[in-house]
Amino acid sequence: MTIADKTVLVTGANRGIGQALVEEALRRGAKRVYAGTRQPLVHTDERVTPLTLDVTDASQIQDAVDNVEFLDILINNAGVAPYDDLTDRGTLERALAVNFFGPYGVIQAFLPLLTRSRGAIINNVSLMALAPLPLTPSYAISKAAAFNMTQSLRALLAGQGITVHAVLTGPTDTEMTRGFEIPKATRESVACAIFDGVEMGEEDIFPDPMSESLAESWRNGAVKAMERESAAFVSPQPANA
Ligand SMILES: NC(=O)c1ccc[n+]([C@@H]2O[C@H](COP(=O)([O-])OP(=O)(O)OC[C@H]3O[C@@H](n4cnc5c(N)ncnc54)[C@H](OP(=O)(O)O)[C@@H]3O)[C@@H](O)[C@H]2O)c1
Repeated sequence: MTIADKTVLVTGANRGIGQALVEEALRRGAKRVYAGTRQPLVHTDERVTPLTLDVTDASQIQDAVDNVEFLDILINNAGVAPYDDLTDRGTLERALAVNFFGPYGVIQAFLPLLTRSRGAIINNVSLMALAPLPLTPSYAISKAAAFNMTQSLRALLAGQGITVHAVLTGPTDTEMTRGFEIPKATRESVACAIFDGVEMGEEDIFPDPMSESLAESWRNGAVKAMERESAAFVSPQPANA
């Protein structure tokens, strides 16, 4: 999968990593980039088509589908990361609504288009899907759920020629991590590494120095081996493979 000449949709495209993904897709020669945002967006590149898209709003998702003719690559990037301590159910529900049910709804709605193009789904999850930072446990739970969904969809959609990628992003310098004083990757470098990972066919993408330090042990670890074994139940190999 190369980005050149492809049609790409990015959610949460107005700032942070999403905005950098739009710019990087354009730099790599994408034919069209649909920029999903909650507020109106103006972009100088005529290849960018703004879409009003709150990922928690089913009617906006349907309107977006109706306005997209063809799609190769769907990037679920929109997210929220509230600080909490799991005492408030509403905070947990809000994190799940945006970070889990958001991508779920967008994926289901765009599946017919992605099936037609034999396209790719990229879910910007988080390293916290693997191990939570207990300052944002609702966020970590929602990202763990989104990662698990990514693993199931990978197996379920393989037979339709759709690839499903998880991005296990570590600390990146955006509004989301403002005030959190730790080393952070730039959003531009993360966007670049995400598309590099997709172009190299990596299922799980580790796009920054912190996440990269876990990549090898993850790829060669027992959990990844189990994911592959389990996937065989829905996408069996031909008998002579
Ligand atoms: N920054 C990090 O260290 C880090 C690490 C791991 C993973 N990630 C993930 O990377 C993704 C992008 O985060 P970021 O760092 O770029 O954060 P950010 O700068 O806070 O951007 C978040 C984006 O999500 C959008 N958004 C929030 N709720 C939405 C909704 N209901 N519908 C549609 N869009 C919505 C925001 O739009 P508005 O402007 O309208 O609010 C904004 O465009 C997130 O999924 C995040 O979890 C980030």
